[in-house]
Parts: sequence; C-alpha cells; structure tokens
Amino acid sequence: MMSVGTIQCIFLVVMHSSTCILVEAMYSKPNFVLILADDLGIGDIGCYGNDTIRTPYIDKLAKEGVKLTQHIAAAPLCTPSRAAFMTGRYAFRSGMGVFGGGRVLKWLGVSGGLPPNETTFAKILQKEGYSTGIIGKWHLGANCDILNDSCHHPLSHGFHYFYGFPLALFNECQPGGQLEIDVPFRAQLAFLSQLICWAVITMVIGKYTNLLPISWKMIFCCALFGFLFFITWYLKYGFMHYWSCILMKNYEILEQPMNVQRQPARIVRESRQFIERHKEVPFLLVVSFHHVHTPLVPTKAFAGRSKHGMYGDVVEEMDFMVGSVISAIDDLGLKNSTLIYFASDHGGHLEVKDGDIQTGGWNGIYRGGKGMAGWEGGIRVPGIFRWPGVIPSDTVIDEPTSLMDLFPTVVGLGGGKLPTDRIIDGRDLFPLLTQKTSNSEHEFLFHYCGSSLHAARWHEKDSGRTWKVHYATPAFYPEGAVGCYHTILCGCEEKDVIHHEPPLLYELSSDPSESNPLSSQTSSYYKEVLNRVKTAVAEHQKTISVVPQQLSFYNNLWKPWLQPCCGRFPFCWCDKEENNGTDII
Ligand SMILES: *[C@@H]1O[C@H](CO)[C@@H](O)[C@H](O)[C@H]1NC(C)=O
Ligand SMILES: *[C@@H]1O[C@H](CO)[C@@H](O)[C@H](O)[C@H]1NC(C)=O
Ligand SMILES: *[C@@H]1O[C@H](CO)[C@@H](O)[C@H](O)[C@H]1NC(C)=O
Repeated sequence: MMSVGTIQCIFLVVMHSSTCILVEAMYSKPNFVLILADDLGIGDIGCYGNDTIRTPYIDKLAKEGVKLTQHIAAAPLCTPSRAAFMTGRYAFRSGMGVFGGGRVLKWLGVSGGLPPNETTFAKILQKEGYSTGIIGKWHLGANCDILNDSCHHPLSHGFHYFYGFPLALFNECQPGGQLEIDVPFRAQLAFLSQLICWAVITMVIGKYTNLLPISWKMIFCCALFGFLFFITWYLKYGFMHYWSCILMKNYEILEQPMNVQRQPARIVRESRQFIERHKEVPFLLVVSFHHVHTPLVPTKAFAGRSKHGMYGDVVEEMDFMVGSVISAIDDLGLKNSTLIYFASDHGGHLEVKDGDIQTGGWNGIYRGGKGMAGWEGGIRVPGIFRWPGVIPSDTVIDEPTSLMDLFPTVVGLGGGKLPTDRIIDGRDLFPLLTQKTSNSEHEFLFHYCGSSLHAARWHEKDSGRTWKVHYATPAFYPEGAVGCYHTILCGCEEKDVIHHEPPLLYELSSDPSESNPLSSQTSSYYKEVLNRVKTAVAEHQKTISVVPQQLSFYNNLWKPWLQPCCGRFPFCWCDKEENNGTDII
C-alpha cells in the first residue's frame, strides 16, 4: 500500500520536485515524542477548562496542534491501560486485563508482565531504523522465570534505552507516605508470611526426625529470611519501599530504594539528552511521568506555587517538564519533523484525599474516576497531538478516539507494517488528525473493568450521536457519594458492582456528565440503541480468546527468586545517582 506521503508526493511531483522530496522525507520518518501522565484528570489542564491550575506549556501544545475531547483510555488503571497503549489491543488480549491476582502488577518480583510475543509499536519502529527510548514509568513487568531473564523488561519490548521505574511510584516509595497497598495485596503478604512460617516449622520437625536431609544453617537462613520478611511488612511500606521502588538504567539498578525527590530532574535530563543524542536519526521517545500519582513530592521550585496545594504544585511541575522536553525538540530545529503526543493513562483518582482536599486528580464535568471502567471520569483523558505543517494548529476534534490508536498511527507513520496474525483494536488516527476525514473509525468502544465488560460506547456516524450503555457500575460507598471511600479503589465484580438489567443508557453527546439515564418512556431510541449495542457486544465477545493470565494470583505473587536486587539479597540497597543534582529549573 502507498503511504500518505507517497500519494502526496506523486501529486506534488507534477508541481515541484523539490517540494516532493521534502514532503516525502517529512512524512516517512517523523520523530515521535509520546508523553504519558499518570492519574492526571482531564479537568486538571488549562486547555480542558481548568482556570486555576496553570499549565501553559500543555495549553501551548494544544494551540499548536489538535486537541481531542473524547480520547478514551482502554482501561481505568495503569497496567492494563499501558499494555493496551503499547500494543494497540485491549488488555485482555495480552492477558493483562484479567482479574485474579489484582488489576495491576503489584510487585517488581512477580512473573506476570507484557508477554514476549506481544508486539509494541517500539518493536516495529526499531526494525524500521528508529532509535527508541522510554524514560520514566513502565509497570509492565520485569522477569518471567529466572532473575534477569528480563522477558517483560522495556529492552525486550522494542526499546534501545530505558531509564526509569520498572514498576511505578507508590505512596510506599516515599518514607512515611500513606499506605496504598490494598486489602487483597495485604492478604497476599499475610499468606506469604504464613507460608514461610510453616516451611520453617516443617524443616525443624524434619531435621529432628531425620526425615529431611537439611542443615541447621539452611534452616537458620530460612528463618532469618522469614523474620526479615515479617519485619518489613510489619513496617508496612518498608517492603514495597526497598523492593519495588527502584530506579533502573537499562538492566542496571541505579537506586534501590529510589529517591522520589530527585526523579523530576532525572526525567527531564534523560529526555533532553536522549533527544540530543538522536537528533540525526529518526527516534521514538516515550516519556512516562510518575506525575501526578501520589506521593505528591513537588520539587523546591514548585512547592507552594499553585492554588491547589501539593496536587496543583505537582501538576504545574509536570507541565513545566513537558515544556522542557518540547523545548529540546524546538531548540534543535526538530519541531516540524517531530510528532508530539500528550495524554494520561486514565482519569484522576477520586478516593485520594487529604482531609477534604482532592489530591488524586480532577475529572472536570465527568463522573467517576480511576478504577471505574464505565463512567467517563475513569477513562476520558486529555489527548493532544502536535506536528506543525502536517497536523493543523488550534483544532479541536470531538470524535471518539482511543489510546490504543497510537499503535497503528505510530507504526504507519514510522513506515512499519501492522501485524496481521492478531487483532488490533486501535485505528490509525492520521486521517482524522489531518482532517482527511471527519469521522473516527471507532463505531464501538468497549469499557472493561478487570475482565468484566462494564459498558460500551456507540458512536452513530450518521447522526453524530454517541451513546453509552452501562451493564454494571461500581457500588459507591458511602451512599450518594461518587467513589468507593471505604477502600482505595472501586472493585469490578460481585458485591462491588451493581448490575443493570435493563442496562443504563446515556446519550453522551448531549449529556457528557451522564446524569440523565434514558428509558423507553423518555427516549424513542432506547430500544433500538440497546439492541444495536447488544449485537455489537456479542460480535466483539466472539473475538476473545483464552491466553495465559498475566495477573493471575500466581503470576502476581511476589517471588523472592525474581526480586531484582542491587547488593546481596535480601539486603538490597544502592545509590549510584547521588551527586547528580535535583533541581529541575
Ligand atoms: C482545577 O483543578 C483543581 C485541582 O485538581 C480543581 O480543584 C478545580 O476544581 C479545577 N477547576 C476547574 C474549573 O475545573
Ligand atoms: C514549520 O512548519 C510551519 C508550518 O507549516 C512553517 O510555517 C515553518 O516555516 C516551518 N519551519 C521550518 C523550520 O521549516
Ligand atoms: C502468545 O502466546 C500465548 C501462549 O502461548 C498465546 O496464547 C497467545 O495467543 C500468543 N499471542 C500472540 C499475539 O501470538
């Protein structure tokens, strides 16, 4: 198939051959800088309507490019949303969206992660001659079977360079931070502790009765290990802090535990250096912020600057970091040859509060938040593209688009071919972004919570209406609240949800806040819409096949033999980035 560039080229060759070469060069291998925020709400950004948080750099990016107002995350949590983003496929296709051991990877020392046979856009671009890098958060696994097999590591998924956090930033990464580990997670810890206890007791009995050929030294080691395990989890955050909050450069551990305060400066430095190093060749850089996930640790320059406490400070700091990355592109004269993208992995986290102050993100007029698959607040995120000269400036597109669309879009523009041996759920956004078409290719989008389908969206091309059908919604607590304030996140199944039979129907295009459910009395479309969506869901569900579950109880269980460790296990500790500056301005 001819690329858009080629077609344009043939057209232009008639007019002016040197323009042709220019256009072809520009279209065939742009650089990509894909910036992803963590837990950022759509209502936190100036150009999406926030008038008190200052985000001048992101606003300018939108002014110089296209702003999507219906940009939808494939899942309302980090791990599945990022898996879908990287592969262009719903998370359940790679086994990354399945309930069982939790909805995200909980430890670094687990065997689950993005499977090696999944293809990321980075893997395809690498083959097309791109230099590829990811700076910041990964959260898609590390090892499979043995320590340092790195089967889930970014370097095994198409990236030449990785600098960042292989897991994520959790509250536990900041000493003294509030606990983020949830109930099933604590149950896993208790289970492991008990297992170790019983193992030691069995060994002692075995030794006494001569049934087990085991040395006292071995028993002592196991007991010591069990004791340390116990102590660290009794100290609560300590366990996560030392063993899951680490900073890596490629395969090397730089900080264990990582120093949260230093990270903003590192991310900016590494991103700018990556761009500088690769300015002569086409490159793909994914900048994956830990902002604005808690713990909120603004650097000195930003602490106390915003009107919204620490949360606002961190948003403004992130905006400044976006600006620093963009200025590296612009200052090197790469502005017209680089596609820049900015989005958040899912909506803001409603249940995170400090007293009455919201510290987990603001989803504007949209209902719900992080963890909720159906309500817009959990999945509708900012989405901005800039590529001067190719993508129009100061343009707003309201069509439904998905974070999964980055996969075919990036692959196509980078000159690669989409895999044909699997289903790709994302759609090429380039025709929409360049206004060659005014319609999104997504007629239906499906909204999963763990492995349960909670809702489906139908964009009716002819009428332009967008409908949303909810089959299940989270059971909020306390009653009347929006959120699950008795725990950290709303659940997806059983008693945690309310099943709707008949389903709830909203017309999103006229009721974006999902406040007026329609019924057969109030809407003449009611029956027809429900039937059409029902058929689409049935067709969609036929495409689901059984794959190994990466987030099963076993795969998401901490395993000492898979624990990345700087130093001698279990005393993992190092700091190789000590004297490297912490100011971002
Ligand atoms: C801007 O963001 C802050 C903090 O997230 C929020 O409290 C405020 O309501 C937002 N303002 C608007 C107009 O959305
Ligand atoms: C970049 O593209 C813009 C818009 O087409 C154009 O005005 C500008 O001159 C271009 N800059 C360079 C350095 O080519
Ligand atoms: C990857 O391997 C698993 C296990 O063999 C299989 O079920 C799955 O279909 C494979 N995925 C792809 C995209 O080939």
